[in-house]
Amino acid sequence: MRSSGTSTPAVTIRGVTKSFGEVRALDGIDLEVAAGTVFGLLGPNGAGKTTTVRILTTTVRPDGGRAEVLGVDVARFPRRVRSLIGLAGQYAAVDERLTGRENLILIGQLTHQPRRRLRARADELLESFKLTRAADRPISGFSGGMRRRLDLAASLVHHPQVLFLDEPTTGLDPRSRNDLWAMIRKLVDDGTTVLLTTQYLEEAEQLADAIAVIDHGRVIAEGTASSLKASLGATIIEVTFATPGEARGALSALDRIIPGAGVDDLVVGGPVVGGAARSLDVVRALDAARLAPTGLTVREPSLDDVFLALTGRTATHTGDPDSDVERTAAMAGAAR
Ligand SMILES: Nc1ncnc2c1ncn2[C@@H]1O[C@H](COP(=O)(O)OP(=O)(O)O)[C@@H](O)[C@H]1O
Ligand SMILES: [Mg+2]
Repeated sequence: MRSSGTSTPAVTIRGVTKSFGEVRALDGIDLEVAAGTVFGLLGPNGAGKTTTVRILTTTVRPDGGRAEVLGVDVARFPRRVRSLIGLAGQYAAVDERLTGRENLILIGQLTHQPRRRLRARADELLESFKLTRAADRPISGFSGGMRRRLDLAASLVHHPQVLFLDEPTTGLDPRSRNDLWAMIRKLVDDGTTVLLTTQYLEEAEQLADAIAVIDHGRVIAEGTASSLKASLGATIIEVTFATPGEARGALSALDRIIPGAGVDDLVVGGPVVGGAARSLDVVRALDAARLAPTGLTVREPSLDDVFLALTGRTATHTGDPDSDVERTAAMAGAAR
């Protein structure tokens, strides 16, 4: 049952630190998730997303700081916390030899659900996750999308109030991803609080009311998908040329239209304010400079763009700080 009318946040994290040997996975992280909302923890590989989820789901103890789920301290009362939460992850935690239905019943038994109601609960979950037809097949034959759906169903057997989803759609094809998004939205409509981690701004935008961007175990930005995008101009324009020389030439031709423009080999681009209409100005300026592009792209910002603006590096190249030097220099400050 959900408590209504109280202001206890679903999740509170204050100054949490966690190291694994030399690696400082969490470096003083602060978060608050309001009950009844979807919170997106957005960051590249290695940012500390899974460690945060593992602390909140009591499988890892924090070194310092405080973490609470519905006001219950995760380090002091892990069993109580486990009774309140569900966890579904990137790696579906299910028994291969059992059928979908058997898995759900087993999990119900492990979480001490009333035996009488287990079958009905399993049927209900199989139905809502479109697994009824496959319910009595061993899951070793399930597709990736079916496994994720079963994993999500399994995390809900005991009616958790707060659900943690660690990269729920990573590796899924677009259709399965859309199905899963719809199912997550339905859960939220029914009152479950969700904290999900993702590497995709689009996913956070589709699902999350509030987003925290994390990097190196710290929160580096907070807001909604649209406020994060708006902080760098809502549109990205990129122009491609046949040679790096032309691309560099275009950089100066475009510097007033794309104020934070950067060049990366054959591509010149950056965030603009004023939307797709600015692409007309780009075409005019290139024409005046007698530069003929081989491609012109107008798109929404991705996590990479947000991340580049915030940190000066791209999210996909975190291990290689030198690879984006030119764009970094040109785009530094675009977020502000
Ligand atoms: N059990 C572990 N032992 C050693 N290092 C770890 C362990 N778990 C995580 N790390 C390290 O901590 C950092 C954060 O990892 P993680 O929380 O898994 O990030 P994310 O989920 O955002 O990819 C990474 O540098 C990772 O290599
Ligand atoms: Mg992870």
